[in-house]
Amino acid sequence: MVVDPRLHALFAEEAHLVGVDGPRDDLVKWMLEEGNNSSKQRKVFSIVGFGGLGKTTLANEVYRNIKDQFDCKAFISVSQKPDIKKIMKDVISQVSCQGGSSKDTSDWDEMKSISELRVLLQNK
Ligand SMILES: Nc1ncnc2c1ncn2[C@@H]1O[C@H](COP(=O)(O)OP(=O)(O)OP(=O)(O)O)[C@@H](O)[C@H]1O
Ligand SMILES: [Mg+2]
Repeated sequence: MVVDPRLHALFAEEAHLVGVDGPRDDLVKWMLEEGNNSSKQRKVFSIVGFGGLGKTTLANEVYRNIKDQFDCKAFISVSQKPDIKKIMKDVISQVSCQGGSSKDTSDWDEMKSISELRVLLQNK
């Protein structure tokens, strides 16, 4: 079995991280900021830099800091050759286990996944 080396970044211990606090706090603040009616709007940020710089680690730190303030959340890693079906199921399992029930998605195709995800995210 091949394990994505990037997984490593997701399990880094916070205490071992160096210099991540400043950028993390900036991004957390920006994510939680309520502008003019923009609080319910999607926010997107990009973290750009060379391989191994700590982009995923920073993203994960931001996520860990703010996730409890959201009803629905998921942290997904997308590689350069993404498996869309797997990504959809990954989102569904993270979103639905917060709702109490975790669904058996093993025999779902894309259509089924999309419609289930729509239901889960309705009015959110
Ligand atoms: N602030 C930090 N302090 C100490 N170690 C760190 C820090 N940020 C990242 N690392 C370590 O550096 C390695 C690379 O980090 P990470 O995977 O986040 O980089 P990346 O920029 O996402 O790389 P890639 O471009 O390959 O996806 C990991 O082992 C991670 O634990
Ligand atoms: Mg990365």
